[in-house]
Amino acid sequence: MSKAPTRLWGGRFEGGPSEALARLSVSVQFDWRLAPYDLMGSRAHARVLHRAGLLTDEELTRMLGALDDLEQACRSGEFRPTVADEDVHTALERGLLERLGSLGGKLRAGRSRNDQVATDLRLYLRDHVRQIVSRLVELETALIAQAEHNLDVAAPGMTHLQHAQPVLFSHQLLAHVHPLARDIDRLRDWDKRAAICPLGAGALAGSSLPLDPKAVAEELGFDAPAANSMDAVSDRDFAAEFLFAAAMIGVHLSRLGEEIVLWASQEFRWIEMDDAYATGSSIMPQKKNPDVAELARGKAGRLIGHLVGLLTTLKGLPLTYNRDLQEDKEGVFDAVETLLLVLPAMSGLIATMRVNTERLEDTAPEGFALATDLAELLVRRGVPFREAHEVVGHLVVWCQVHDKDFGDLTDEELAKVSPHLTPDVREVLNVQGALASRKAHGGTSPERVREQLAELRALVNEHAAWASGSDF
Ligand code: ARG
Repeated sequence: MSKAPTRLWGGRFEGGPSEALARLSVSVQFDWRLAPYDLMGSRAHARVLHRAGLLTDEELTRMLGALDDLEQACRSGEFRPTVADEDVHTALERGLLERLGSLGGKLRAGRSRNDQVATDLRLYLRDHVRQIVSRLVELETALIAQAEHNLDVAAPGMTHLQHAQPVLFSHQLLAHVHPLARDIDRLRDWDKRAAICPLGAGALAGSSLPLDPKAVAEELGFDAPAANSMDAVSDRDFAAEFLFAAAMIGVHLSRLGEEIVLWASQEFRWIEMDDAYATGSSIMPQKKNPDVAELARGKAGRLIGHLVGLLTTLKGLPLTYNRDLQEDKEGVFDAVETLLLVLPAMSGLIATMRVNTERLEDTAPEGFALATDLAELLVRRGVPFREAHEVVGHLVVWCQVHDKDFGDLTDEELAKVSPHLTPDVREVLNVQGALASRKAHGGTSPERVREQLAELRALVNEHAAWASGSDF
């Protein structure tokens, strides 16, 4: 390229930057993602410059026309950043100068890359958070649909990965929906704090030009302009908070992923993955691997890393803008892109998996999972729980020694272990009874799970409406 590169700060410098500095400094290879948002900000800024009398009617028209044209060119790929463009703001100013000549240089009045980049990143995130919520809604929906299909299927409920008490498999599936619902709630709450517009703060002190930060904020869908120009250009709380929400989603997906890995194993055989969401082995022809679930589990690492990375970058920075802040973006972009990649795969895996209901039902009572029910029956009959626990514990050991299950015991055998174990205790030794009895709020009884399902359906509809809402 024969022409000198566009630089936004060349005035007081004699020579150009060293190769090493230029390579260290350049961010356009990743911040180009902000181009559509930077252009939105530029349009709003052009309008306030016009209202402030700093652009004539004709200049505004030409400016907006050039911005539209530039946006088109960016979209089609006809306008691309070059290696000589330091960042997205530089590249877009070049594009504007190419279209408008010196008029293009008027847009920089009253704003700085410091307030611009802070605004762009908020716009980018508010937009992408809605996309992430939409993908979370799809995962919630897939889990709820499976819960509905398998509403009354009993399953072994576990603590410490050991059979504990029978539960409805639907209850367990819905237990994965609630954390996702909290994640969405967190992102919606995040959005309220993210809805503050830094544009107008300039480099740090605000502007001497009669700009209108309130109007700019409104045009860009923010609730209000920032109250303090120094805070406006320094604040990356919104990025760190987003990364926490993303890391939390990652942790939730990793738990769901881990459960699916277990469920699909030969040892569990709870589910069969659809071929479209499983992978094979290059050497073992029989293999069907849960790679989607494993990748979901594995991606949590990088999501957590991005949060820790940004907090570490922010720690101890003085006010206001420092170039360290350029490090805020790659982790944020990667977190967004990671979630948008993983969530649809997990939704597809869940939506298409086949549940082995027979296996779940058969194994639900295994491992003496009805022991608590038996102890609680004795309690209802006046036996102190301590003693009931002991009696049932002895019964378990007796069964293990004689290689029997609760259901195989004769009246005599029961009586031999304890006089409390009369033949009628068998009434609680069935899975359906155990499930039905857990009808306190939040329990696994069929009625409670049906209520829970209905409530979650309503909540998910609300989530979907927010994600597609026009309030932003
Ligand atoms: N590329 C920069 C960033 O990402 C934009 C702001 C640059 N500001 C500055 N004063 N050098 O943070």
